[in-house]
Amino acid sequence: MNTPHPLLSRPAGALNGLVAAPGDKSISHRALMFGALAVGETQIEGLLEGEDVIATARALRALGAGIERLGEGTWRVSGRGVGGLIEPGDVLDLGNSGTSARLLMGILATHPFTTLITGDASLRRRPMNRVMDPLMRIGAVFAPREGGRMPLAITGTAEPVPIEYTLPVPSAQVKSAILLAGLAAPGRTSVIEREPSRDHSERMLRHFGAEVTIEDLGDGRRLASVVGQPELRGAKVGVPGDISSAAFVVVAAAIVPGSRVTVRGVGVNPLRSGLIETLREMGANIALAGLREQGGEPVADITCIHAALKGVDVPAERAPRMIDEYPILAAAAACAEGTTRMHGLRELRVKESDRLAAIARGLAAAGVKIEEGEDWLAVHGTGAPPKGDVRIAVNLDHRIAMAFLVLGAASRKGISVDDAQPIETSFPGFAALMNGLGARIGESGPP
Ligand code: S3P
Repeated sequence: MNTPHPLLSRPAGALNGLVAAPGDKSISHRALMFGALAVGETQIEGLLEGEDVIATARALRALGAGIERLGEGTWRVSGRGVGGLIEPGDVLDLGNSGTSARLLMGILATHPFTTLITGDASLRRRPMNRVMDPLMRIGAVFAPREGGRMPLAITGTAEPVPIEYTLPVPSAQVKSAILLAGLAAPGRTSVIEREPSRDHSERMLRHFGAEVTIEDLGDGRRLASVVGQPELRGAKVGVPGDISSAAFVVVAAAIVPGSRVTVRGVGVNPLRSGLIETLREMGANIALAGLREQGGEPVADITCIHAALKGVDVPAERAPRMIDEYPILAAAAACAEGTTRMHGLRELRVKESDRLAAIARGLAAAGVKIEEGEDWLAVHGTGAPPKGDVRIAVNLDHRIAMAFLVLGAASRKGISVDDAQPIETSFPGFAALMNGLGARIGESGPP
């Protein structure tokens, strides 16, 4: 286990500059996995080299795929074809990464051997029934710990059955796991979502040559299906910048007076960009320029100039399109004038930590008035900078660490986090990048 690394974010002056966001985490995992299931070589540019994605690379290597790092962000995958992975010789440790665990479970569901998977204390607390339930219908067999938790054993089936499955919770990970399992099944495997989640798997499966159909079923419901047993062909993938990482930089510029920051090459997939919409409703000055397409995903440069923010209501229907952005939205809300009410937050309770509790506890300790419900949060901002002067318990949650470090820059007395190490899972170099813009994040000294 890594030793905890406390960091302190002191109040900062204006943030200024132009930066590139690290590669998109969701797309990076998928590029490696789909490459491993394709025939031939996949060349990836801009891969996120964070711990979560490295966990996926390590697991795929253990399953027999050829995975090589050619240079910074440039990786080559030599695939084994759909159903072609081999039994690993040891337990696969997926660290902190829910995406690695759940998507790999989808892949392993149709490989007829037994794999043991585990992860860190955070991942071992997270619910896996949501992904095991549909995969059992396809034919996989699981032996999890009490409550459907990891470590668990998965034995894949040699005769997968195609299914049609309606997701009980909005989850791109579960949807993707089912579609990945469906790749090996004869016929069409379909997933119905009541609230559409990120569609990177659907887009990338097409890019690798699979037949994917998307249907609008009305009332916001959406069906995604894949025709099984395709020959996936290795492809070139350019990974866009991660909007969920860019979000920390954008909000920092929005809440620190005098700031003007541009983040280049950010993926602005409509199913990921709910935060931009929300910040604009709050009065943020955000411009998207140079809209272009990269590997089937829309990409733009995002500029944010500081402006006074006001509280807004964030509807539950928007949650799947900004599910990872609530910690940093809450930091923006803490600096806004008026109340920001966020609805439909149940899923935050089962992320890398109970994020709803962590946000509420942290903001209250930093001097912000909040109310917390089972699946909602109200943040009562005054328009003045929050006091800060608190040390936040990160509990292995990268986004909690980054959100409070950003808030520290806009606070009166600074905010520290007890462990910044988890930031390495998604945003290596976060503190240095922020400091390059004018933030003052550094060693915090004894608590
Ligand atoms: C992800 C889906 C989301 C998100 C996670 C990445 C993905 O999780 O929170 O960071 O890459 O599919 P859920 O599927 O649990 O909503």
